Amino acid sequence: MNKGTVSIAFLLVGLLGGLVLVADLWVKNAPEPPAAGAPISSTSTTSLLPTLNGVIAAGEYAHSLHDKATGMDLSWSIVGKKIYFGLHSPGKGWLALGLAPEGPAMKGAEIMMGFVKKGQAYMQDEFGNTPYTHEPVTKAGETADLIKFAGAEDAQGTTLEFARLLNPGGKDQKSIVPGVMTIMLAYADKDDWTTYHRQRSEVKLDLFAPGK
Ligand code: HEM
Repeated sequence: MNKGTVSIAFLLVGLLGGLVLVADLWVKNAPEPPAAGAPISSTSTTSLLPTLNGVIAAGEYAHSLHDKATGMDLSWSIVGKKIYFGLHSPGKGWLALGLAPEGPAMKGAEIMMGFVKKGQAYMQDEFGNTPYTHEPVTKAGETADLIKFAGAEDAQGTTLEFARLLNPGGKDQKSIVPGVMTIMLAYADKDDWTTYHRQRSEVKLDLFAPGK
């Protein structure tokens, strides 16, 4: 073999190696299809911050689910150390998201609850202090972990949007970490903190990997 033939052979081997590398990267970076049967209507990811203005716009959140039992919708995006939630109920009173109850019933859950009255949103960070009651974490000497919230009400129901830390650190506050956790959803028809729910349900969900 002369020098020319050897260099052409090296060039061809180099080109082939490059093509294999590109094909491998292409396959590894292809988006994962959503798991069949998961209660998720969207699993696309985004690094955009949701705008907390009481309106859940199409594509604003990375994930969303519709809970048939209550008719409520939950949307969320995890960005850095925070989680942004959009919660919608078909009702006109309070609505809430509860995290990781220890039971029975609502005991031990951290509950983010609120309502919209005369265009103004009210929200509280609460915890289930007994199976059937809850109180603000601030009453137990902790710092509420709601960083920011907004809400709006219209003929279709009520929307709350809020942000909190994934790991707020209070003893009655729940850390949101990878893995399946129990999420409670509930709403009522009165703008207060005490009226028994019209609908309530629990879903099991990994907020970091909802398609799994
Ligand atoms: C506002 C005052 C509230 C009252 C008086 C109340 C009362 C009760 C009662 C008596 C039960 C047991 C009966 C049943 O299963 O329906 C219950 C269960 C439940 N509540 Fe509440 N609740 C309140 C707020 C909330 C909030 C804010 C949430 C948060 C999402 C919530 C979520 C639930 C869930 C998911 C269950 C069923 C738990 C299970 O089956 O283990 N509740 N509640």
